[in-house]
Amino acid sequence: HPLLCFQRNFKALDTDVLLASVPKSGTTWLKALLFSIVNRVRFSVDQSPLLATNPHRLVFSLECFYYAKHDNPDLGNVAQPRLFSTHLPHQALPSSLIESNCKILYVCRNPLDQFVSERQFLLKNRLWPDKPYGEVLSFDEAFDMFCDGVQAFGPFWDHLLGYWNASLENPDRVLFLKYEDMKRDPLLKVKKIAEFIGLPFTEEEEKAGLVGDISRLCSFKKLKDLEINKNGVHYGSVKNNSLFRKGDIGDWQNYLTPAMAEQMKTILEAKLSGSSLIL
Ligand code: A3P
Repeated sequence: HPLLCFQRNFKALDTDVLLASVPKSGTTWLKALLFSIVNRVRFSVDQSPLLATNPHRLVFSLECFYYAKHDNPDLGNVAQPRLFSTHLPHQALPSSLIESNCKILYVCRNPLDQFVSERQFLLKNRLWPDKPYGEVLSFDEAFDMFCDGVQAFGPFWDHLLGYWNASLENPDRVLFLKYEDMKRDPLLKVKKIAEFIGLPFTEEEEKAGLVGDISRLCSFKKLKDLEINKNGVHYGSVKNNSLFRKGDIGDWQNYLTPAMAEQMKTILEAKLSGSSLIL
């Protein structure tokens, strides 16, 4: 299984940068930003490979790409610093990664928005691995499972807390980001990410407006409207356009009842109590 092969066989380098997330929390956005920040000297913004390539083909997933294709892929040729992504919880990361000095960026999102985003994504791509013959879970059924922690890559609260605690213990190694904060002030976060991975923007770059240029290049609207993201697929059959739906904060209000939101509030209070994480 790709997850087990990744756990067993991956050898981290201290220079690696790993992007971790629960699916539908802003992975695509962070991939675009990370790639642009790291490669800003190689490619100017108007020559960026992002203009013609989906972000998932610039920063590849360890378990959905490399280890899905091969038990022990040769990652020696990946350009350094190697940029990877994973949806694995921190608790399940390979020991080689934990023991290395590589950097981990984590992005989380309001769980209700994440749930709605995932539901729409699965419907659009007809991905219901547990339900054969195209049978689709009802909305209520899916929400109940979500509240019970039945979710790809484990209950979201364990996922969040794993990386949250790691970021508190090791702030130089794990940067915990929230989708909502990134939407509110993308420039601040772009600078923060660059500093965190050891590639801070120089004064000249800032004066030249590069932080804003990268932020605009990777914005929802810009990426969504690119030809490459309107068409095409990645990782086999995932439609590129299914990655760019609305990009809003609070879209859950259009799908979930106040009672469902209340149920989630109670779950969050219980699961996050005792931690300093506030969503
Ligand atoms: P919505 O379905 O709420 O629109 P992931 O990349 O982890 O799969 O997450 C997908 C979600 O991020 C989708 O949310 C998508 O629209 C949003 N998204 C994709 N690119 C984005 C960008 N550049 N800026 C902000 N949100 C983006």
